Amino acid sequence: MRIILHVWRQTHAKSVGHFERYEVPDVNEHMSFLEMLDVLNGRLIEQGKEPVAFEHDCREGICGSCGMVINGRPHGPVQRVTACQLHMRSFQDGDEVWLEPWRSAAFPVIKDLVVDRSAFDRIIQAGGYISIRTGAAPDANAVPVPKRDADLSMDAAACIGCGACVAACPNGSAMLFTAAKVSHLGLLPQGQPERFGRVLAMVERMDAEGFGSCTNHGSCEAACPKGISLDFIARLNRDLIRATLGKSA
Ligand code: SF4
Ligand code: FES
Repeated sequence: MRIILHVWRQTHAKSVGHFERYEVPDVNEHMSFLEMLDVLNGRLIEQGKEPVAFEHDCREGICGSCGMVINGRPHGPVQRVTACQLHMRSFQDGDEVWLEPWRSAAFPVIKDLVVDRSAFDRIIQAGGYISIRTGAAPDANAVPVPKRDADLSMDAAACIGCGACVAACPNGSAMLFTAAKVSHLGLLPQGQPERFGRVLAMVERMDAEGFGSCTNHGSCEAACPKGISLDFIARLNRDLIRATLGKSA
């Protein structure tokens, strides 16, 4: 396959970026999208040119680092698939593919396709922990957790912190991410002591980081590679109201 790439090149956060056109003439349909970028970068290095900066780590859809906008969609054309799990068989010979970094004021561009997602880390730092002793692994069975809560908590814990929800949202809201993190601990008995303080602290941090408000567009859920449900935002809002009213609501 021959693929024509238009890649966003930007040397640093304050520089003006632009799209640059590259042809990758010998793409195998079984390559992952990132392997195709590796081939491009190998060529650029051979030619003495600057390779395209993009973030990656696990390359198996679990670390959340590989986010980029591919043809206008966070993580590309296949639903519930991260950019690293996307394969070139999802494209046609001769396709033109446009690559951009996440576009959000709270995620400034570091270089090319790499953005600074440390705002997410600071939201986690604000409340994404528990303080009680949970004992060793065998002690886990001593704390019964209703099956429904365990399943819901696991669904929320599937969030990999990639930021696609923010990139997809016209408001640049981080509500889906924050709701997943609040819910995965708030649904478990071990997460109860900090439950209401957690939601207040994490939402306060989210606002301070410059993320926009949620106005129920739903683009976040559609773009999320892990299928995190909007229901978690409703759950967060319920806890936020209870926390604001001193748990009396
Ligand atoms: S909610 Fe989904 S899109 Fe948002 S950070 Fe988590 S995994 Fe990524
Ligand atoms: S590189 Fe880890 S999720 Fe894509």
